[in-house]
Amino acid sequence: EKDLESKLPLIGKKILITAGPTYEAIDPVRFIGNHSSGKMGFDIAERAAELGASVILISGPTHLNTKKAVINLIRVTSAQEMYDACHEYFEKVDVAICAAAVADYKPKFVAKQKIKKAAASLAIELEKTQDILASLGKIKQQQFLIGFALETENEIENAKLKIQKKNLDLIVLNSLMDEGAGFGKTTNKITFIDKDFVVEPMDLKLKELVAIDIMNKVISFYEK
Ligand code: CTP
Ligand code: CA
Repeated sequence: EKDLESKLPLIGKKILITAGPTYEAIDPVRFIGNHSSGKMGFDIAERAAELGASVILISGPTHLNTKKAVINLIRVTSAQEMYDACHEYFEKVDVAICAAAVADYKPKFVAKQKIKKAAASLAIELEKTQDILASLGKIKQQQFLIGFALETENEIENAKLKIQKKNLDLIVLNSLMDEGAGFGKTTNKITFIDKDFVVEPMDLKLKELVAIDIMNKVISFYEK
């Protein structure tokens, strides 16, 4: 029994993970999106499942799939749909890891018909989406809450601000500056910063291995 515990340290734990981009509709055929592949979130989900957790994976549009039966994959399109799905499940989970690249803005009005080309220029008014991670941070109880941060300047300082603003236990700072890291790549260069502002830079490595590092942080939280 002790053996099973050491191989499956997260048995009985429920983990919510967000992944991928969100698409914000402009009209029936167009949207605002981003280049997130979803791979980081899917890799975290696979690793969490291997460690015995039951996983709720809430993903924006991606071609990725999972074969693991313990991963409950919920596909959404917009930031609002992802927000609603996250809030439906958050109360019942032990850990939430927000790896999705959620759109910060969406069109204020969605055109009912395809927008025809007419004028020489077109402006689309945008409004903020809801911050899913910040909202989960506000209602958090026992949950261990992990966020991501993508910064191109003052990385550490900005990431620390996000920990405070969103009431996180841990942030995974993504460095896009590196040629081999980030959107559409198979590798990531991350730095962990915890809620006590302990900074731990990691080597550039495959996203599968980054997922292992992240899940090791979750395991050590429960070992304390
Ligand atoms: N996030 C979210 N909901 C949003 C925007 C972001 O849940 N509407 C989450 C992301 O999944 C990520 C974290 O917030 O875990 C940080 O995302 P990031 O884009 O780095 O930060 P923002 O708070 O959006 O701030 P900015 O883009 O201005 O740096
Ligand atoms: Ca953002």
